[in-house]
Amino acid sequence: MDQTMSEYTNETIKTIFERTSVRSFLPEPLSEEDRKLITDAALRAPTGGKMSKFSIIDVRDPARKKRIAEICDHQAFIADAPGVYVYLGDFSRWYRMIYKHVGTLNVDINYPREDEILFSIVDAALAAENMALAAEGIGLGSCFIADIVIKHDEVKELLKLPKYVMPVMLGIFGKPKARPSKPSSRIGVPVVYEDYYRELPDDELADMIMPLIPRTKDGELAMTPDDYITRYYIRRLGSWLSFARTESVKAYFKDWLESPYGE
Ligand SMILES: Cc1cc2nc3c(=O)[nH]c(=O)nc-3n(C[C@H](O)[C@H](O)[C@H](O)COP(=O)(O)O)c2cc1C
Repeated sequence: MDQTMSEYTNETIKTIFERTSVRSFLPEPLSEEDRKLITDAALRAPTGGKMSKFSIIDVRDPARKKRIAEICDHQAFIADAPGVYVYLGDFSRWYRMIYKHVGTLNVDINYPREDEILFSIVDAALAAENMALAAEGIGLGSCFIADIVIKHDEVKELLKLPKYVMPVMLGIFGKPKARPSKPSSRIGVPVVYEDYYRELPDDELADMIMPLIPRTKDGELAMTPDDYITRYYIRRLGSWLSFARTESVKAYFKDWLESPYGE
């Protein structure tokens, strides 16, 4: 199947296949109508138990946007984006209700647990993607940014996050000034398996990064796979930023799991 599916006529499918991340926006503010539409779309995402275990902070204050751009590894385009939204996994509303109501009925209450962290993150991510697709459908562009999970203490204070609320990612939105000319590549091995997981043999795994390696004008690989994956590792998974994100996420998990509400 053609990855772009540009000839496809179904509007939903077209929106999904033609979406690209957008990092450069026209300086027009988002209308209140558009803001409402895309955040309403977030609320329509699937959510386990109809619990909506997420919150979204619509960051409007330019100084706050600038601080967030600095926190997110100085990605300056964040401060210039007309719409800056923080997606949060959020169990605080439910814990408060449970401790208030169930706690009065002599029922044992489970302390906050790992599964709740996982599913609040899932809810936040599904809401974020619904919002991005709704935005795309009305001609807006978007890009997600993970670095908002960094700097636990500072972000908690900046966004006034209570217990059981943690950032999952940031989304920026606006009318695209520039868009990538074509959808970006993905890894070159199957990610859908029939019936059970199949670990790829080493020689097939080698195909994984081939579509990601830049090419010369003549279509030759611009570097060897060894070089590419080493540089990729150093720039991303092995970077100081990645280690800093890890420490900060650990702190969120620790807060969540070690301090049962009400104690
Ligand atoms: C969790 C997550 C974190 C991301 N973080 C960043 C980021 O920090 N900076 C950025 O420019 N793009 C970021 N992106 C966007 C990805 O780079 C982008 O989705 C990827 O290159 C694929 O391109 P596409 O979205 O145009 O298909 C992030 C996307 C996700 C889902």
